Amino acid sequence: MEKWLAAWKKEYLNCIQPLLRRKEIRSMKQYRHHLDTDGFCHCMHVSCMMYMVCKLFRWDYKAAARAGLLHDFFLYDWHDYFKQTHSPFHLFTHAGVALNNANRYFVLTNREQDMIKNHMWPVTVFLPKYKETYLLTIIDKICSILEIFQWLFSKIRSNLYNVGKTLVGFIGIVQKTFD
Ligand SMILES: [Fe+2]
Ligand SMILES: [Fe+2]
Repeated sequence: MEKWLAAWKKEYLNCIQPLLRRKEIRSMKQYRHHLDTDGFCHCMHVSCMMYMVCKLFRWDYKAAARAGLLHDFFLYDWHDYFKQTHSPFHLFTHAGVALNNANRYFVLTNREQDMIKNHMWPVTVFLPKYKETYLLTIIDKICSILEIFQWLFSKIRSNLYNVGKTLVGFIGIVQKTFD
């Protein structure tokens, strides 16, 4: 099992290595995406999951890993965009911006372009052309939900810790009055 996982990891990294070499890709780290998750981290989650599922189904796992990493390559904080414009258009336009950026820095296959361009379907109207694109629309949403839950659980855990600390402190004070 360990040997098999190590082989997958090596193959996955080989797929995305040329993309990771570009500083523009790594610069996604500076933009907040979902709560505590930055753009780079979100794209890595999607890329990793896309690779694993496509590998299991014997689909185009290389395109899946690459397009997963590039699907939200829009290089701005969409929260700022929303604050400045008060418009929800980012939802409909960011896939096109990501595709333009991706085409500027990399040579993409038709399948990879379709995956980036139509990853917001059915929010956007054009139907995906490839099965990997349909998968990306699902995995992107699953990762987004998991990232929101991860933030929620970390908040609940830190609040529970604070409540516990206060209770223990209070019990200590009460005990001291009886000493
Ligand atoms: Fe997106
Ligand atoms: Fe996304």
